Amino acid sequence: MKFFIDTANLDEIKEAAALGILDGVTTNPSLMAKVGIKGKDAVKQHYKTICELVNGDISAEIISTTYEEMIKEGKELAAIHPNIVVKVPMIKDGIKAIRYFTDNGIKTNCTLVFSPGQALLAAKAGATYVSPFIGRLDDVSTDGLNLISDIVQIYDNYLFDTQVLAASIRHPMHIIECAKRGADVITAPLSAIMALFNHPLTDKGLDIFLKDAEKWK
Ligand code: G3P
Repeated sequence: MKFFIDTANLDEIKEAAALGILDGVTTNPSLMAKVGIKGKDAVKQHYKTICELVNGDISAEIISTTYEEMIKEGKELAAIHPNIVVKVPMIKDGIKAIRYFTDNGIKTNCTLVFSPGQALLAAKAGATYVSPFIGRLDDVSTDGLNLISDIVQIYDNYLFDTQVLAASIRHPMHIIECAKRGADVITAPLSAIMALFNHPLTDKGLDIFLKDAEKWK
């Protein structure tokens, strides 16, 4: 299972990368806005910096919504670094664009996926990754984790190569449930990843071991 961090914050990316467990980064226009990146050139430079920090797939989201514009923007993003994955929204022109990118050797991440049917279309178009949004489904009283199970089952039935990238993760139990259900990748905020470390018995046990070690040092 791959671990991606879902942020455009360089300090958070560095902190996760330093753990030695980070396989990639996902971003979106909201996350870029949150760190104050403004303008096309600044956005491209920021993606380049992220690519230099993490040796893994880095999702860069296009903001065009028509096929022709998507192809142009996606090609520009892909040219930034070989590890760039073009993130494309789940709309009709997006699926057409994913087919184009797939046929031309550009990796893709189909985003804003909320149903098994949408995930099936993304796989048919040859997407490298599909991003079902768990937390946003939970927000509207629909079990987001069930969507992960459904997509994993459908992809396994037909041996699709598209990797299930569980997104919109809000807490550590989302990560654990995604692992149990066979998601290929999780992308999570730093807080959810760091929360996986926590257990009071670990802290208590370490405290006892260190105190006892004082006796024989
Ligand atoms: O990057 C897409 C997704 O992870 C967004 O998460 O928390 O804004 O629903 P969230």
